[in-house]
Parts: sequence; structure tokens; C-alpha cells
Amino acid sequence: MRVLGIETSCDETGIALYDSERGLLADALFSQIDLHRVYGGVVPELASRDHVKRLVPLMREVFASAGVAEGDVDGVVYTAGPGLVGALLVGGACARALAFAWGVPALGVHHMEGHLLAPMLEASPPAFPFVALLVSGGHTQLVRVDGIGQYQLLGESLDDAAGEAFDKTAKLMGLPYPGGPEIARLAASGTPGRFVFPRPMTDRPGLDFSFSGLKTATLNAWQQCVAQGDAGEQTRCDVALAFEQAVVDTLTIKCKRALKACGLNRLVIAGGVSANRHLRASLEAMAKGLKGELFYARPEFCTDNGAMIAYAGCQRLMAGQHDQSGIEARARWPM
Ligand code: KG4
Ligand code: ZN
Repeated sequence: MRVLGIETSCDETGIALYDSERGLLADALFSQIDLHRVYGGVVPELASRDHVKRLVPLMREVFASAGVAEGDVDGVVYTAGPGLVGALLVGGACARALAFAWGVPALGVHHMEGHLLAPMLEASPPAFPFVALLVSGGHTQLVRVDGIGQYQLLGESLDDAAGEAFDKTAKLMGLPYPGGPEIARLAASGTPGRFVFPRPMTDRPGLDFSFSGLKTATLNAWQQCVAQGDAGEQTRCDVALAFEQAVVDTLTIKCKRALKACGLNRLVIAGGVSANRHLRASLEAMAKGLKGELFYARPEFCTDNGAMIAYAGCQRLMAGQHDQSGIEARARWPM
């Protein structure tokens, strides 16, 4: 089965062609980061309008680079949520129109299922069952995965998502959007131990997270430095490192707890924050300690992309999931 996948849930237009026998045939992405950076975050209306401009040229590009005739697919799958409704509607309308024109089914896919399954596109994919840590700009979740569509939520953030905490903390420190990669870049030159921030909710049982207090602790420390006239580049790096370390430690402690609770030692990390090198190293060491293994996608498939949607949608269509009529677009949607 060959499917065209379309991702437009936020500020990236992603398109890909996935073939169940040959794997990923082609993918293309347009990131709107430069468009939104001046506003310090994503402007939904600008995002929708830009998706309108990019979809068809990107779609043509993937068919051409895969050497597949336009429309020679068995289905068109698209991100139906969660995300920005206007942006989702653009992708959904495009997918449904193409599917109608080509006489194939269209299917709405859950964005987080896309992220969750992105590591399946790598050369050595994880076998089921495994524990997945989903860490994106909108979600922080621990999920037990027993197969495609067999997901059990183990824990999640009660307030900010991990990526959101990176973005908001970066903004408070005057860093550009998106803040995750910026903080990671500064943290690489930070002085370990100069600042120490809390590891929220690690001293009590359970698998839920909370990152908003950590964000406030970081802001307070930074503002104190500013007040003391000590807000130079090195201090910025030191604060960034302490913040990143606190997030990484917290995620590592909870992942270890989740693996033990499930009696598993395979851990998958997915979503934008899973591109963080410090997080990967920490989880890799923890998994090794449990004689287990860590799996993740290549960096460009950690953040939003069309390939993960094409893959997830292809699995769903092959499992016999039916075409729905209309265009699905859900701002919120539990997985
Ligand atoms: O999965 P994603 O592309 O979009 C959502 O579905 O939300 O995740 C974007 C998030 C942003 O919050 C961004 O700051 C964060 O992932 N991010 C990172 C890194 N790269 C992206 N956070 C920490 N370290 C990184 N290297
Ligand atoms: Zn995402």
C-alpha cells in the first residue's frame, strides 16, 4: 500500500510518500519558523495562510523525487489533530480534495500517534511492547505501547509540556522562538552546578509531570542575575544548562519508573524535545543500566514532519480503518 501523508498541525508543512513494502519513498518539509520568529511564537492565521501556499508545490516535489506518478497512491492521510484548527483544516481540505480527485480513501491521523511511531521509520525499529515518552511543544506523556493503536496512558504533564517549558523559559530570557534548540545551544557552554533548579514531582510516586514551577524557578534566578547586573552571556548559558539539566533529570527519573512499573526495558522517545542530545544521552545511560535499549527518530523526524503521518496513516489503512466523510480537525484530541 502506498500513501501520501500531509502534516499541517502547527508551523511546519510536511508531505511524504510511504510505501508499506518499500518504506519511505520521499518527504519534503517547509518550516515557517522565520515567519513567526518576529512575533515570539506561532501566529495561527499566518500559519494557515502559509500552509495554503506550500501544500501543492511540496506535494508535487515528493511525487517527482519518488519517481511516482501524481495520484498513484492507495490513500491520502492527514493530521486531524490535535493542533491549530485553521492549520489542520487547510491540510484536511487538501487531503480530502486530492483523495476525491484520485478516487482513494482519505483518513485523519492523530498527530501524537505520528510522533510516537516516527522511530519505526529508522533502520532498527523497536519491537512491541515498549514504553514511549512523548515530548513535544504541546504534550508530555508516558505511554505503554503494545501495538499499533494499543496505547495506555501512564502519565502526563499537569501543566506545561516539556517543549512549552523550554519555549517559555527561553522567551523569559530574551531568546528567540523556538526556545528548545536555543536553550540546548547555550547549555552546551554552561557551567555545571552554578545553578540548581528543582526536579518537579520526582519525590512522590506516580508518573505525572509538572513543569510550570521549574519555569518560575528559572525566571526568578535569571531576574536576580539581571538585578545584580550579572546577565551576561556566560550567566545565560549557566541558567540554560541548569534548566535543561532539571528537565532531563526529571524525564529520566520518570521514564525509569515507567519502565519498572511495566516490567519493560525498551524505551522510545519521540516529539521535538526528543531531538535534545543531553536528554538522549541521559536516557541511553539509564536504559543501559536496565539492560535495555533506547530508540528515537533521526532529528528531522523528531520535530513535525509528513513522514510520521504517512507511516501512521498507512498502518491504520492497512488495519482496515475506514474512510470518514468530511474533514476532521480537532484542536484537542486524546490519543
Ligand atoms: O514535536 P514538535 O515539532 O511540535 C509539536 O508537536 O509540538 O515539538 C516542538 C518542540 C518545541 O517546543 C521546541 O522548542 C522543542 O520541541 N525542541 C527542543 C529541541 N528541538 C526542538 N527542545 C529541547 N531541545 C531541543 N534540541
Ligand atoms: Zn508535533
